[in-house]
Amino acid sequence: MDYKSAVEKTEKYGQSHILKYYDELSEKQKQALVEQIDETDFSIIAMCNHKEEIAKKGKITPLNAMQLKDIEKRKEEFHTIGMNAIKTGKVGAVLLAGGMGTRLGSDNPKGMYNIGINKDVYIFQRIMENLLDIVNLSGTYIHLFVMTSDKNNDITIQFFKEKNYFGYDKNYISFFKQEMAPATDYNGKIYMEEKYRMSTSPNGNGGWFSSMIRSGVIDIVNENNIEWLNVFSVDNVLQRIADPLFIGATIATKSKVGSKVVKKASKDEKVGVMCLEDGKPSIVEYYELTDEMMDAVDENGEPAYNYGVILNYLLNVEELENIAKKSMPLHIVEKKIPYLDENGILIKPEEPNGYKFETLILDMIHLMDSCVPFEVVRNKEFAPIKNKEGVDSVETARALLKENGIEL
Ligand code: UTP
Repeated sequence: MDYKSAVEKTEKYGQSHILKYYDELSEKQKQALVEQIDETDFSIIAMCNHKEEIAKKGKITPLNAMQLKDIEKRKEEFHTIGMNAIKTGKVGAVLLAGGMGTRLGSDNPKGMYNIGINKDVYIFQRIMENLLDIVNLSGTYIHLFVMTSDKNNDITIQFFKEKNYFGYDKNYISFFKQEMAPATDYNGKIYMEEKYRMSTSPNGNGGWFSSMIRSGVIDIVNENNIEWLNVFSVDNVLQRIADPLFIGATIATKSKVGSKVVKKASKDEKVGVMCLEDGKPSIVEYYELTDEMMDAVDENGEPAYNYGVILNYLLNVEELENIAKKSMPLHIVEKKIPYLDENGILIKPEEPNGYKFETLILDMIHLMDSCVPFEVVRNKEFAPIKNKEGVDSVETARALLKENGIEL
């Protein structure tokens, strides 16, 4: 793209301010900015004008979970099937580590956060230790794909290297980058983070499979005949990965997806809940649950929307390839976005000041035909670190780690 086309494109979308400093930039910076304008999809920004419409859901009905008592009855069967899938190399793992962790407020990737008290215990370390448990149990290394973003890729790779991959075989770890999307103020004007660079942020956790394809790591999946990918978030320090029972239950029930869920602590707990939407698996967010849904009961008198997702899914690769070309809805999220003010000074806001545009993994589940919500014991498998203090914080996660005998 040349300068003239960049002017036309920014004018067309009401974003001319992006070129405000163009004349004072170096040749290299000019080129970088024009390139970024060329690569950026501005059409998505118009969506912040009809946010409510985008968020509309179909008809929500309950989806029964496979509960602990059901799992207990079929434990041996599931274990055998799951172990067999692991030992024959059919299972890979995908760590979603492209997020910015703005609520935690650390400049480094969330996985580098040290939650130790008397010794170093990094979030990435906890994840690798949990994965190693299964490697040791099965005698098989599991391919791990780590999704990063432009903002944290190099430092993440460097950290793994420095820590000697936390004892994992590095030949089984591949890093890939997700895409970025522009961030805007509340009027849909793109923020600038440098005079030659628009503010961008990772485009959400929904694009991980398309990023695996684009980056080429999908070849590793195909060459190794990996049939299932266990996708999980970076911030749950009790995350069980490639859990044989979970894998076995998903395969045995002929489901395209398995989703680990926990029983909600209260009917209005702030977690997304597994459900059916227009007859297909879906997740209804806590703020979308009406009073009527919160009070609804199933045939056993139990709450009908009672199982919250913990961002740990097992997805069938063939099915992922089938849905890869389908478009996913964009979500508009309010976040804190660093920006240049009118005097060209970089401001790091303390409060949300605009929109980011994200696709979410939960919309991917909705594209699948069948899903088994698989209950796990909350205190053993769910210790998310989202915030600095209070709910889902370092403090609550530390207490749960101690409860599970993990030294800090
Ligand atoms: P969150 O929704 O908690 O977002 O991510 P976040 O960016 O980590 O944190 P906040 O909201 O800014 O505080 C859930 C999981 O999805 C990953 C995160 O790394 C985390 O594992 N994620 C999120 C991505 O990989 N990419 C994204 O663009 C967003």
